[in-house]
Amino acid sequence: MATISPVQRGLEDVVALESRICFIDGHEGRLIYQGYDIRELAARSTFEEVAYLLWYGRLPTATQLAELRARFGALRPLPPPVVDLIRRMPTDATPMDVLRTTVSALALFEPEEGKPGASSIGGAQRLTAALPTILGVFHRHRTGMPDLAPRPDLSQAAYLLYALLDRDPTELDARAVDVALILHADHELNASTFAARVTASTLSDLYSAVTSAVGTLKGPLHGGANERVMEMLDEIGTPDRAEAVVHQKLAQHERIMGFGHRVYKVEDPRATILREWSRRIGEERGNTAYFEMLRKVEEVVHREKGLYPNVDLYSGSIYSLLGIPHDLFTPIFAASRVSGWTAHVLEEYQDLRLIRPTAKYVGPTDLAYVPIQDRPG
Ligand code: SDX
Repeated sequence: MATISPVQRGLEDVVALESRICFIDGHEGRLIYQGYDIRELAARSTFEEVAYLLWYGRLPTATQLAELRARFGALRPLPPPVVDLIRRMPTDATPMDVLRTTVSALALFEPEEGKPGASSIGGAQRLTAALPTILGVFHRHRTGMPDLAPRPDLSQAAYLLYALLDRDPTELDARAVDVALILHADHELNASTFAARVTASTLSDLYSAVTSAVGTLKGPLHGGANERVMEMLDEIGTPDRAEAVVHQKLAQHERIMGFGHRVYKVEDPRATILREWSRRIGEERGNTAYFEMLRKVEEVVHREKGLYPNVDLYSGSIYSLLGIPHDLFTPIFAASRVSGWTAHVLEEYQDLRLIRPTAKYVGPTDLAYVPIQDRPG
């Protein structure tokens, strides 16, 4: 029998492929998209620029950026049968389930873009433009808000806020979401991106790969953590209760959502930036309770477990202050990460290798088949 390497549960530290899209230095707390440091991109660029960078491997010219913004605006509308499908969904459906189902349904109406192995930057742009529309159509369906207009005049971040809140956002609010979308756009071979690449590596299509990724991101150990952080804050209530509640959770061996990371051994650089935006939006709204609670939770978790915050700790406090319901936080993560998922799918198509690890079999091998009439019991 061929010798196989030792089992690495969760594929921890296993290098599965080479990629040019994203580099994470977990010991230095650095995150790089196609060569650019996330701190510079968060300070100086926009989500549209970052999506272009992820797909093309270079920053856009002013003309190329304007063309991408116009393309996003033109691609926002959904096929009418898909809008009808969303409007037939239960109003209490989980938004991540709505997203997963609708991305899958879209493929029935747009087979060209998602064709297996196609270059499909068009499909990547289509899906990136469509996800905020899917969320807006569903949220307006469940709340009875007026129908959603495509608003090609708005950036992705501003459109997302308009789609969910039915009002044009302030510049500050739109910039807060734009930075969050930049920070969530890609993160190397995280579970949902890996799921997308596994799907693409069979030469399956772009829409199937993104459907796989949405289903994977939903999990609370991955993208779903941002919603559970807010549940924890609601449980804590006030900053002075943070210590007791966190101690109680740790005593029960509960995972504190928003902390820890498979790769970062220091603070997630995205948490550093989101912490500052949580403070800034809190102060602008005159409500820093979330920020103060989170600072206290950070202090206790680091003292007791030596853990650092990850991207999910502060994002929800920002979205909540902007008026976005908690169950839309992970879908917003998806509306950004779809740019990274699709960039990785395109990279997989360009240098395709079926992803198929092996397992160390630990069961029996020589059992004799017993006819059913002779089996005991
Ligand atoms: C994201 O991969 C990515 O890049 C993901 C992401 C992206 O951008 O795509 O960065 C987004 O998913 C961020 C992570 C969001 N999830 C959470 O916040 C959920 C809580 N975090 C944990 O479940 C955990 O930290 C993980 C899942 C994020 C990472 O877990 P690992 O690498 O498998 O670490 P582990 O489970 O082996 O834990 C090591 C030790 C354990 O202690 P012991 O049992 O060995 O004594 O650390 C402890 C764990 O109990 N630990 C925690 C903890 N995280 C780890 N203890 C309490 N609370 C936590 N959050």
